[in-house]
Amino acid sequence: MIKKAVIPAAGYGTRFLPITKALPKELLPIIDHPTIEYIVNEAIESGITDILLIVSSNKNAIIDYFDYNLELETILLSKNKLEEYGIIRNIAQGVNIHYIRQREQLGLGHAVLQAEAFIGNDPFAILLGDDMYVGKDKPAIRQMMDAYNEVHTNVLGTIEVDYKDTYKYGICIPKGKKEGKLTELKGVVEKPKVEDAPSRSAIGGRYVLTPTIFKYLKNQTRGAGNEIQLTDAILRMMDEEKVYSYDIEGKRYDVGNKVDYIEAILDFGLQKPEIKEELQKLINKKSK
Ligand code: G1P
Repeated sequence: MIKKAVIPAAGYGTRFLPITKALPKELLPIIDHPTIEYIVNEAIESGITDILLIVSSNKNAIIDYFDYNLELETILLSKNKLEEYGIIRNIAQGVNIHYIRQREQLGLGHAVLQAEAFIGNDPFAILLGDDMYVGKDKPAIRQMMDAYNEVHTNVLGTIEVDYKDTYKYGICIPKGKKEGKLTELKGVVEKPKVEDAPSRSAIGGRYVLTPTIFKYLKNQTRGAGNEIQLTDAILRMMDEEKVYSYDIEGKRYDVGNKVDYIEAILDFGLQKPEIKEELQKLINKKSK
């Protein structure tokens, strides 16, 4: 049973400077909830009971966000603002959130390595904060946990991207012909040059891995961008364990990309009863 998840949240957020100089990118709001809360909720809705957030020194606001704020709660209660009280009390209910600091930012692989003691001997999920999904029938990571239960080995969540965008992703090399959603892989390559991209099947920020990965992360040398890459350790692990890709069903937003981020705000805004009509009118007016 997969019960633990890791959410790396230690990066600098350089794509969103200057705001990320003072505000962790994970707290950029989709209107009134930060992006990371959607990721945490995806894990909760998928049956995860324990989440390890990998943070860094300037990310204390994330820890505060998931903590109770007793002073604010007392004030809201004294003013009889029960709805607002409920909103802040309900954040991340039903899950234990644990934290560890990555003391130096050496790459995603190095961030995940910080989870070794927390994970122990069970398979676990990884959710990257830049990739937000609105799953089709099930949350993205739940789909992958179900895929894991079929193959009992590592599964990488994948999306199909245009060839011109392959240089931004870890790209999968299928073993045989791709049939169906689950595909055994013979390789993965992190951020290939577009002309070298072996396929359009890109790692979409969701993983279910066995703890074997830690053995490979421990001595993983630097790769693309001079960083210790998770993808490179997964490739080496393929000598020992099978790795599959699973095509995630649903809509993905790359909230590290400004236009995708705005799209997420619009789509989620159009779901909010208190603003959806006015927002729709605004969109119609702007698109004339
Ligand atoms: C990371 C991974 C990459 C994956 C991507 C998905 O890259 O290293 O394999 O495809 O997330 O968003 P990053 O976007 O952090 O550079």
